[in-house]
Amino acid sequence: MNVIPLPNVFQSLPGSFHVHKDTTINFSGELKATADLLCDFLAESIGSRPKRSNYSSINLTLDFSLEEEQYQLFVDRNSVHLSARTNRGAFYGLQTLKQLATVKDGRLFIDCCIIDDRPRFSYRGFMLDVARHFFPKEEIFRLIDLIAFHKFNVFHLHLTDDQGWRIESEAYPRLTEIGGKRKATYSRRLKGYAGPHQGYYTKADLKEIVAYARSRHIEIIPEIDMPGHMNAFIAAYPDASCLNKEIDVLSDFGISDITLCPGNKEVYQMLSRVILELIDIFDGPYFHLGGDEVPKKHWKKCPRCQKAIKDFHLKNEKELATHFLNYFAEFLRAHNKTPIFWNDGISEKTSPGAVVQHWKYFTRKKTVKEINRGRRAVLSDYFYLYLDLPYALTPLKKTYQFEPLGKKIKNTANVLGIEAPLWTEWVPDRSKIDFQIFPRLAAVAEIAWTEKENKSYDDFIERLKNLYSHYRKMNVGFAEDKENQPNLFARAWGALSWFQDEDCELRKKKRRR
Ligand code: ACM
Ligand code: ZN
Repeated sequence: MNVIPLPNVFQSLPGSFHVHKDTTINFSGELKATADLLCDFLAESIGSRPKRSNYSSINLTLDFSLEEEQYQLFVDRNSVHLSARTNRGAFYGLQTLKQLATVKDGRLFIDCCIIDDRPRFSYRGFMLDVARHFFPKEEIFRLIDLIAFHKFNVFHLHLTDDQGWRIESEAYPRLTEIGGKRKATYSRRLKGYAGPHQGYYTKADLKEIVAYARSRHIEIIPEIDMPGHMNAFIAAYPDASCLNKEIDVLSDFGISDITLCPGNKEVYQMLSRVILELIDIFDGPYFHLGGDEVPKKHWKKCPRCQKAIKDFHLKNEKELATHFLNYFAEFLRAHNKTPIFWNDGISEKTSPGAVVQHWKYFTRKKTVKEINRGRRAVLSDYFYLYLDLPYALTPLKKTYQFEPLGKKIKNTANVLGIEAPLWTEWVPDRSKIDFQIFPRLAAVAEIAWTEKENKSYDDFIERLKNLYSHYRKMNVGFAEDKENQPNLFARAWGALSWFQDEDCELRKKKRRR
């Protein structure tokens, strides 16, 4: 079965169905959206769109006995039957069909098979950091199509960070005028600075992105990372930090100790207005508030922060961080959104409705405790799912073998699913995106979709060959087998260079302070 992620129930049959210029299609009116996409795909391959006719060899039918994301596919030499309860389910059937199709001399063949398929996890996510490097909306559209092809249903956009603010705000135009630009960009490749960098999405861009994603059954989750990772915001509005001093949007990477001041009432008002501007654009249930990596050095000396700790009867700066994040968690919940935080922003006192996104190495125990206490979670374990890591540290096989539900997780229903982030400090362009994410994203897709007992790495590797041919046809780059599964020497060398780079930049940063 040449399909990734592997369908959960299937049987391969001999032979194939041949689509030609006279092939017609029949579909339930409710599935028109998917039928249109299927016709687009067939037209691309055979040069003309199939017409709709009552007596057709290709049929899309509604079946109310199926689950929302489920589809059933039956292909024999004479016909194709795809059934689903919703366009979403039918859409996943279409993605499977695409992988079963081969085009030869303008003729299209679909392998015969019987499939009954639905996903293991309901949350199948990919994250792109558009703050460290900005990517125009066309690149976002391309990635939406590619993750949809792998049956993902969440695209998390990390929209703000120390190195850039990427969303238009009517209330606070300096966020993009000042915060959307940086003077230079540190580059590991150059061991020095590349030029300035800028860019942001207008409200109209964001609406277009959301609509494009929706038509492919993908939810865009926006992230405004706070109260750390906020130097671009502070560069635009210096009063927002404890220091009240002018700073630049960062040209270097790493954790900045300058954060928002959680003792400043105006900061709460400003961020509430910014969030309010975005709530209506993103139509899904989730909204990400970051919360990761918050140095509290300046809070200790800030009179406003210390006053807030007293006024709200908090124990310390850590509780002040929770107080700050809970304010926005409740704000979002009042607007019918579910907040998500990175796990280092979560404590026992964090709003119970907030979802934890686990990423940080060596802190899984705490996350598991939260899950077992009743908190819902998305897992993004650093050494397995961070797609910015070099293949030397995280080879394809390591990603593939990641099992989200370790024995310690009792409350498995609280694990919504998994998400693979791509942070872009060292990812300046499309070809580097492709190299970092493919084929690891195919492995992530299979973890998220295919039941654990149906997975097999050796079989996955065999099926990858077909996926590679689709990547080539779509002009998508990927790390070749030698690169995605480096030998021991290359792994040791690559890992060493990576740690050396990290360490070297850390020391350089300390010297600058
Ligand atoms: C993170 O990687 N700082 C969430
Ligand atoms: Zn302060």
